[in-house]
Amino acid sequence: MPKSVRDILSMKNSKKITVLTAYDYTTAQLCDKAGIDILLVGDSGGMVMLGYENTIPVTMEQMCFFTEAVARGRQNAMLVADLPFMSYQASKSQAIENSGKLIKAGADAVKLEGGLEVKDTVRAIVEVGIPVMGHIGFQPQTTTLQEGYKIQAKTKDAAVKLIEAAKALEEAGAFSIALEMVTKEVSKIISNSIKIPTIGIGSGPDCDGQVLVFHDVLGLYEKIKPKFAKRYLELSGEIVKAITSYKNDVVSGKFPASEHSFSMDKLELERLKKEVE
Ligand code: KIV
Repeated sequence: MPKSVRDILSMKNSKKITVLTAYDYTTAQLCDKAGIDILLVGDSGGMVMLGYENTIPVTMEQMCFFTEAVARGRQNAMLVADLPFMSYQASKSQAIENSGKLIKAGADAVKLEGGLEVKDTVRAIVEVGIPVMGHIGFQPQTTTLQEGYKIQAKTKDAAVKLIEAAKALEEAGAFSIALEMVTKEVSKIISNSIKIPTIGIGSGPDCDGQVLVFHDVLGLYEKIKPKFAKRYLELSGEIVKAITSYKNDVVSGKFPASEHSFSMDKLELERLKKEVE
């Protein structure tokens, strides 16, 4: 049984919540097997899976496609899917309709970026029965357009704004909030001021859980290497090595060997030879 909202809420103050992004069936299976609590079908998939410069071009169709694949691969993890840029900003009914599409594709909850400006949207989605994860601090869908990658909540005023945003999202019914690139002191204050769990990415150790992008954890994405993303493997180098060995084996005739080939029955082969001769 996948983890429920109630399961995730009950982890606050008792057990750290582990979250990883996933965009396909195989990855979802591996993360689930490792016991990850929440699989996030992030719109970061637009960058690491589709090669976009940022998350802005990602469409609802692409998010539903990723979500369906991840849903087929997970068993125990909760599945949260991102609402992509401009899929919820136009109106509450647009946000509800697109949240519904992600739920029908297999998500258990949706995530959207924004603070006070999206609180009514969050409330509207929650009111139709769809759980929502908020996302404040660095917001890739809009902050990249305005100021580029930047640590959030470095000043008192910025911190107060972020704390207010977290409280507003909780009040609107969000079941958790992702904090991206928020100073660790402010993440701690936010985590202690709300009852729902905070999930940090580049936001220090005092969040209730942590999220990272799958491709960063395994060292598969080379374009951007954020300081906060611990790389547990450097898999891209290993993959290139393996592919080069395959290429060399094919060129040299070493692959396929007899154990990779299928044989005909000897008698049948004799009969065939006679016929083709
Ligand atoms: O899209 C994503 O991967 C995210 C995480 C960075 C939180 O939103």
